[in-house]
Amino acid sequence: MSKTIAVIRGDGIGPEIMHATLRVLEAIDAGLDYEFVEAGLAAQEKFGELLPQATLAAIARHRVALKSPLTTPVGEGFSSINVELRKHFDLYANVRPAISFPNTRSRFPENVDLITVRENTEGAYIGEGQNVSDDGATATLTQKVTRRGSERIVRYAFDLARRNGRKKVTVVHKANILKSTSGLFLKVAREVAAQYPEIICNELIVDNCCMQLVMKPEQFDVIVTTNLFGDIISDLCAGLVGGLGLAPGANIGVDAAIFEAVHGSAPDIAGMGIANPCALLLGAAQMLDYLDQADKANRLRAGIRATLAARDRVTPDLGGNGRTETFADAIIGRLND
Ligand code: NAI
Ligand code: MG
Repeated sequence: MSKTIAVIRGDGIGPEIMHATLRVLEAIDAGLDYEFVEAGLAAQEKFGELLPQATLAAIARHRVALKSPLTTPVGEGFSSINVELRKHFDLYANVRPAISFPNTRSRFPENVDLITVRENTEGAYIGEGQNVSDDGATATLTQKVTRRGSERIVRYAFDLARRNGRKKVTVVHKANILKSTSGLFLKVAREVAAQYPEIICNELIVDNCCMQLVMKPEQFDVIVTTNLFGDIISDLCAGLVGGLGLAPGANIGVDAAIFEAVHGSAPDIAGMGIANPCALLLGAAQMLDYLDQADKANRLRAGIRATLAARDRVTPDLGGNGRTETFADAIIGRLND
């Protein structure tokens, strides 16, 4: 039986990379049907709103969405459609793999294979207690960490490690200074870790973690951390292995999951047919894992890896002169290698 997912083609380069991605999914026989829905600028132009109810309903119905980047118009509505989607569906886990790929001119073309699991709903991002004093001289902000929020994200990280045969989870915190918030997160993380005796749990203070990531990223396996630290660390990790064109992300909740590329709609190259589809393709691979199609997810990743290794028709951001569609052709040609 085929599974239907919601697909958001998105803005800017979104439709181009989505077209290529769906072609590759077709070639891999993913057995998916699509309900195409709109969000972002495309939705605003068509329906007069950035995030139509029909889009939310389709995601709720199918529980899985593949999403291209969206352009949030400056100065209108909510600050970010993505943040709104996370809130609406309580997508508490932001899961961002960073894997070395050969011949990508990245700093670590080998040896990095880590996953950052970022708490996606609380911490410094709750939007409460943002205050600037009347004289503009003092600004404050409330951070919130809860036992429930910490427990579910740490559990997610350990379950992910267990499912994937990964050996180690690193809990990243700043409990020495942020004794209340980071302190609670660390305390709960230790309790959860004790329930996974086969997985090594280590703890790192966030600043040290950043240095270690740059010096010796191969020592990391799964990283779990609070919202703000995770935001920064996951981008740092993307930078280690080749940057935006290769960085996917999943936003996972209990009732829904949205898979995407980390990068934005790239208005500077939109419509030129030269966008790198790999980040969205790798997001699609995460989606296949989520849908219990690990064999196909692995074939997809292997096809991307082999194409990058051969530098076959790679796009200009990777130093080639391929186009989105020819790059996708090259990947399709290697799915059965
Ligand atoms: P961006 O990620 O769109 O672009 C940054 C630079 O990277 C540009 O030079 C772009 O050409 C390049 N780039 C990005 N993806 C690429 C790809 N697949 N292949 C080749 N080159 C690529 O970030 P920017 O310019 O800050 O944001 C543009 C728009 O995207 C904004 O409206 C922003 O709100 C939105 N955005 C949406 C996101 C999402 O929906 N997940 C995430 C980040 C930004
Ligand atoms: Mg970020």
